[in-house]
Amino acid sequence: MKHADIIQTLDLEQKCALLSGGTVFDTRALPGKNVPSITLSDGPNGVRKQAGAADHLGLNPSVPATCFPTSATVANSWDPALGEAVGEAMGEEAAAQEVSVLLGPGLNIKRSPLCGRNFEYFSEDPYLAGKMAAGYVRGIQKNGIAACPKHFAVNSQELRRMASDSIVDERTLREIYLTGFEIVVKEAKPKTIMSSYNLINGTYANENAHLLKDILRKDWGFEGAVVTDWGGSNDHALGVKNGSTLEMPFPGDDSVRELMKAVESGKISEADVDARLDELLELVLDTKAAVEAAPRTFDADAHHALARRAAGESIVLLKNEGGILPLKAGEKVAVIGDFAKTPRYQGAGSSAVNSIKVDSFLDCLTESGLVSAGYAQGFERQGKANDTLKQEAVALAQNANVVLLCMGLDEIKESEGIDRSNMKLAQSQLDLLAAVAAVNPNVIVLLSAGSSLETEWLRDCKALVYGCLGGQAGAGALVDVLTGAVCPSGKLAETWVNGYDDSPVKDHFAGEGRTVQYREGLYVGYRYFETAGKPVAFPFGYGLSYTTFAYSGLKAAADGVTLTVTNTGRCAGAEIVQLYVAKPDAKIFRPAQELKGFAKVWLEAGESKTVTIPLDDKAFRYWNITTDGWEVEGGKYLIRVGASSDDICLTGEITVLGTGAPNPYQSVELPHYRTGEVTQVSDEEFAALLGRPIPEDKIKIDRNMTLGELGHGRSPLGWIVAAVLGQLLRRSIQRGKPDLNILFQYNMPLRALAKMTNGAISMGMVDGIVMEAQGFWIIGLLRVIVEAVKNIVLNAQMENRLKNS
Ligand code: BGC
Repeated sequence: MKHADIIQTLDLEQKCALLSGGTVFDTRALPGKNVPSITLSDGPNGVRKQAGAADHLGLNPSVPATCFPTSATVANSWDPALGEAVGEAMGEEAAAQEVSVLLGPGLNIKRSPLCGRNFEYFSEDPYLAGKMAAGYVRGIQKNGIAACPKHFAVNSQELRRMASDSIVDERTLREIYLTGFEIVVKEAKPKTIMSSYNLINGTYANENAHLLKDILRKDWGFEGAVVTDWGGSNDHALGVKNGSTLEMPFPGDDSVRELMKAVESGKISEADVDARLDELLELVLDTKAAVEAAPRTFDADAHHALARRAAGESIVLLKNEGGILPLKAGEKVAVIGDFAKTPRYQGAGSSAVNSIKVDSFLDCLTESGLVSAGYAQGFERQGKANDTLKQEAVALAQNANVVLLCMGLDEIKESEGIDRSNMKLAQSQLDLLAAVAAVNPNVIVLLSAGSSLETEWLRDCKALVYGCLGGQAGAGALVDVLTGAVCPSGKLAETWVNGYDDSPVKDHFAGEGRTVQYREGLYVGYRYFETAGKPVAFPFGYGLSYTTFAYSGLKAAADGVTLTVTNTGRCAGAEIVQLYVAKPDAKIFRPAQELKGFAKVWLEAGESKTVTIPLDDKAFRYWNITTDGWEVEGGKYLIRVGASSDDICLTGEITVLGTGAPNPYQSVELPHYRTGEVTQVSDEEFAALLGRPIPEDKIKIDRNMTLGELGHGRSPLGWIVAAVLGQLLRRSIQRGKPDLNILFQYNMPLRALAKMTNGAISMGMVDGIVMEAQGFWIIGLLRVIVEAVKNIVLNAQMENRLKNS
C-alpha cells in the first residue's frame, strides 16, 4: 500500500466516509488527517465545472470553457493524435479551473443508431473507439490530472439507464464491449475509470466482480480508482468489495453507515476498504499536487483554433456530385436554415459546456470570399411546419448560384437521458429541401447531427457535408471545407443504414422491460451488414475527398503491413487507410472482417508515402468460452486494406499459427451466428450462445423499480407519481426541449433516491417506500417516518464526529 501512513491513522468511520463524495462533484476532505478534497468535472468535450449550484445533468451554469467537437465528431478524424491534442487542451483548462478528474472520454459502443448519447461516444467499433479514447486520455493526463473513461461497460442505451440489465454472452462482452476499454486502460493508463449505471448479466457494473476485479484489475492491470456514475451505486459495500473505489455524488452518511455495517458484520473485510482507500488517496494526493502547480490561465484563442482544426479534420464529405465542391471564390451563395444562425454544436446533458464563444456559420461566411445572396431561416427548429419560412427560402434560392442549406437534428432529438425514436430529420426540413431543390439544383446540405440519419433525401442535394457536432468553432470548419481551405478527410466511424428497420438490434434495443438482450452478439454495425450481405447507405469508414488516392505494393505479415499510398489528385489531402482482417474459412464463427489497424497519412498532390500499420495482439484473437481465454484459430487470414470497409483496395494473405484450442461451438447449434443473419436468432439459439437460459424479464416491486414504473405497483401514491412524471415527460418532449430532470427521475430506480438527495433519504426510507409500493401502505409509511427520524439524528452525529476528526 502506498498510503499506509495515512490509512493507519484513520478509524473505520473516517475510512468509509472517504469512499463516497462530499458534494455533487467534490470528494470528502479530512483536514485533520491531511486528506484534501478534489474536484471531478465533466466532461468529454470540454470542462463543465460548476462554481455555483451543481448538478449532474448540465442544468445549472458552469464556468466558461472551450467547447470542443464531441467525441462522435472527432472519431471521424480517425486520428488519435488529434484526440490527444484536444485532450491536452481540455486537461489544461481543467487544471486551470482546479479540476483534478475530467469525466471523460465516453467510449461506449454505438450498438444502435438510436442511443440518445451516441454523440458522446466514438464508434460502433471497439478498436477505433479504444484508440481514440487512448489519445484523449494521454492528452488529458499530460497535465498531471486524471482522465475518467466511461461508462464501464455495456451501456448503450438511455432508457432505464440506471436499472437496465444488459444480457450479453461472454465472447461478445470481451470482443465488442470491453476491447475498447482494454485498449485505453493498457495503452493510456487512465488514473480513474467510471463504472456504468446498468447491470451486466444480472449484476450491477459497479459491483460486478467479474468486470472490476477479474478483468479490469487482474487481467488489464488497472491500478487506479473506479468511480461510480452519479447515483450509480446500488450496494456500496459490494462495490467496495468488488473493486469500486469512490461513490459519487455525495450520497449522505447513510452510505457510510452501510459500509461500516458491512465490515462489522463480516460481509466485506476492512482490508477491502483499505485497498480502495489506498487507490483514492493516491488519486487525491497525486492530482491535487498537479492542480496546485498548474497555471490558472490558458490561451483561449489557441484552444478555439484547435477546436476549429479538430472540427475541420473530422468533417465527412458524403456526396459531391459533379465536383460541386469546393466552391470558387466569388460564388454567389444563398444561406438557408436555422442552424446557420444558431448552430447546433454539442449535445444536451452532463457533457454540455458553457462555451467561451460560439461561431455561427453566417458570421464565418463573411470572411470566406464567397458572395452572399442573403439568409433565410427556412424552417422552425423544432419541426413545426411553417409555409412562410419555406416560401422565403425558396425565393432566396432562386437568386443564387448555390444554396447552402444548414439542416440537422434539434436539441430534443439527441440528449442524455432519452433515446431517439427514429433516425429522421424533421419533415419540415425535408419539405424545404425538396422545395429548394426544385428551383435550384445546386443544393449543398451542411448537416449538424451527433448520430447517423436516414438519407432517403440524398437525391435532392448535390453535396452533403457532415459536420456532426463541431463544437464552438465548428461553423468555421464547415466554411473551410466549402472553400477548399481544408480538404475533407474525415471518414464515418459508424455505418449509416438505409432505414432503421435494417438495424440488427431493432427488435432488442431499449425495450420496456428490465433486461436488454444483446441478441445480435458480435454483429454490431458493419460486422453485421458485411457478414449478412445487407446494403447500407454509407458504409463504416466512408468519406470523400477533393483529391484521389491510389494504393499499391502491399506487403503483409502477422505483425503488420506496409503499402504505398499516392495522392493522384490535384490538391493536398489526407487519406485514412484502414486495415481489416478476415478469415473466410473460419471454423469458429466470426464477422466477415474486422478493423484491426488504421493510419492517417497526409500527402501533397502527386506525393507517395510508405505507410506502415502494425498488427497487435488483438489482430487475430477471439474469446474462447471453453478455455476462458483469448485464442487464435490457426491458418490463412486475409489482410484487407482500403479506403472504407466497403472499398478494399489491396488484399494480402498470411498464415498465422493457432493456439490449438478446442472449438467451443463444436456441438452447439448456432446457425445464424455463423451466417450473420442475427435478426433471425430464436430464443433457443440465443440461449445456446449465452450458455444458459435467457433470464426472465419481469418488473419487480423492489428497490430497483424505477419511478416511471411505479404505475405497476400497488400504491395509489405510486400511481400518481408515475402518471405525473409521464405527463411532465410527454409535455417536455412536445415543447421541444429536453427536461433532463424529469427524464432522469422517470428512469431512476427507487434506491437512487437514497443516493441523489444529499443524505435526505436513507436506504431504510427507500425500503419503506418499496413496502408502500407493494401495498403495505400503513407499515410502509410508518417505516419511512421512523427511518427518516433515525437518518436525521445519525447524520448529525456523524457529521459532527467527522468535522472534528
Ligand atoms: C452521466 C455521466 C456524468 C455524470 C456527472 C451522469 O448522469 O452519466 O456521464 O459524468 O452524470 O455529471
